Amino acid sequence: MDLIEVVKKRHSVRHFSQKSVATSDIKEIIKLAQLAPSWVNSQPWKVYAATGKTLEQIKADYEQKDHLNEKSHPDFPVMHRDDWNNRTQANMKQWRHEIVHHFADFDEAHHIMSDASEHLNYAPVILFLTMPKDSSLWSVFDMGSFGQTIMLAAKDKGLDTIPNYNSVRFPEVLRKQLDIPEDETIVVGISLGYAEDIKINTYQSKREPLEDVLKISK
Ligand SMILES: Cc1cc2nc3c(=O)[nH]c(=O)nc-3n(C[C@H](O)[C@H](O)[C@H](O)COP(=O)(O)O)c2cc1C
Repeated sequence: MDLIEVVKKRHSVRHFSQKSVATSDIKEIIKLAQLAPSWVNSQPWKVYAATGKTLEQIKADYEQKDHLNEKSHPDFPVMHRDDWNNRTQANMKQWRHEIVHHFADFDEAHHIMSDASEHLNYAPVILFLTMPKDSSLWSVFDMGSFGQTIMLAAKDKGLDTIPNYNSVRFPEVLRKQLDIPEDETIVVGISLGYAEDIKINTYQSKREPLEDVLKISK
């Protein structure tokens, strides 16, 4: 695929098929993503790829915590939606509105989105990205570049992804199952696999008009 096609075709997939992902693909994707830029080439990233029985156990532990209504506590704090600035809040509201309209009604949308979340998108692989706890704020930018390169490299191989807050809600489960040291911050999970042919995966999110985003000064 050429670059423009890859960029346009990448979108978040929320229900993966059970088709497994080749280990060689995971290695090639991460090797390519290592070419992402970082502050003074500091390369803050590490990747813990959860697959097979390990991922099944993570899913089971999450299910149990959800069953007990345990409050999420990801390593990065989550800001309440009402505290975001007006523009980004409006974009989030618009997204939620469109998702509901993609389905028959709110109940169907809620049921399908909740099911996907509860099962960690049925992903056969989740790549958990960490950075050292002693990091500069700039490293978060580096992690974003690294993550996007992972998602584009995956799309180029015909694989789908979703970057996910949902999968990093209970860091102690991930530290235990994946042996992630305490001095690393778990930034995000990127679910990886092949999209199931199902309605939830046909939703395409929209973007703001270019004029609202780009200002060219002469
Ligand atoms: C850091 C981050 C965390 C996200 N967490 C979730 C999540 O927990 N659940 C979810 O359904 N989507 C999640 N997403 C996906 C976004 O909703 C999605 O990227 C956005 O709506 C744009 O759609 P697209 O990725 O299909 O272009 C997350 C995205 C990012 C970048």
